[in-house]
Amino acid sequence: MSDIKFFDKVVIVTGAGGGLGRAYAIEFAKRGARVVVNDLGGSGAGEGASSSAADVVVAEIKAFGGDAVANYDSVEFGEKIVQTAIDNFGRVDILVNNAGILRDSSFTKMSDTDWELIYKVHVDGAYKLTKAAWPYMVNQGFGRVIFTTSAAGIYGNFGQANYSSAKSALLGLGKTLAIEGARKNVHVNVIAPIAGSRLTETIWGEDILKATSPDYVVPLVVKLCSEDNKDTGGVYEVGASWFAKVRVERSEGYAFGVDKDVSAEDVASKWDAICDFSNSAPAESIVSTFNAVGKMVGIDLLAAKK
Ligand code: NAI
Repeated sequence: MSDIKFFDKVVIVTGAGGGLGRAYAIEFAKRGARVVVNDLGGSGAGEGASSSAADVVVAEIKAFGGDAVANYDSVEFGEKIVQTAIDNFGRVDILVNNAGILRDSSFTKMSDTDWELIYKVHVDGAYKLTKAAWPYMVNQGFGRVIFTTSAAGIYGNFGQANYSSAKSALLGLGKTLAIEGARKNVHVNVIAPIAGSRLTETIWGEDILKATSPDYVVPLVVKLCSEDNKDTGGVYEVGASWFAKVRVERSEGYAFGVDKDVSAEDVASKWDAICDFSNSAPAESIVSTFNAVGKMVGIDLLAAKK
């Protein structure tokens, strides 16, 4: 296996002033990429702004001879961040959507602001960046995009209705853009990291923070953004040197037959069969949904035309 290098590549990392984003930016630069280090420099809850977070990382990169430029815009104005890449380096090849904040609260106590700020940063931010970078990637026939979800986005988590639903949105966005980008060599993957950072330092002790260094997440992002990477549309959980792929699984289900009336009582009577995973299968596309229902009731939804 050859070394992974990014000599002719321009990489944007959002939220690269600290935590995971800083670690990605430094590694891409070490491997030859020119890097846009974006960071708004606000608090973990999304308040305030400062240029120092991005500046410090750019200085670190320059100190080892790397090439990087700072950008201080909020990801809500993603087109400005992409423009920074174009103005300074003339292109954009890789986009790591990483910037994030937390505003945890039980759903009962959650304010509209808690909801809206989380959506602005995680969903609108990732959308704006990707929307602006996408035409460059499609036109040049190369692009690598990472979205950052969370275990909370995959499974839900108490106190994170805003964050988990925003992170779930990125699963759908990533899956759809992987389908749309495939023929143009634009590969899109989603990661759910576990890492000691500003966002987790208040809940974990020193030993756990050390074991979950962001450095353990970096290799997956580098691999997925490499020229040779063929995988797209994947969802990966990663942290503390553990790397795993997540997929959706579907039970075989139960079909009553389309010549029958079906009541709620009928559904209740077959509940065990509906929820029985002993003959389950991976559920990886809308086509697989159509195939599954087709197999159970004998109709071909793929061939169906009005
Ligand atoms: P962090 O707080 O260390 O880094 C996030 C960075 O994003 C900060 O430097 C912050 O200034 C920047 N940022 C926040 N809002 C911004 C905006 N509007 N525009 C530009 N930059 C902005 O946190 P960490 O842990 O490195 O998080 C990185 C990503 O990973 C986030 O999307 C987070 O939700 C996600 N994540 C982290 C997990 C963990 O265990 N640390 C778990 C699951 C997901």
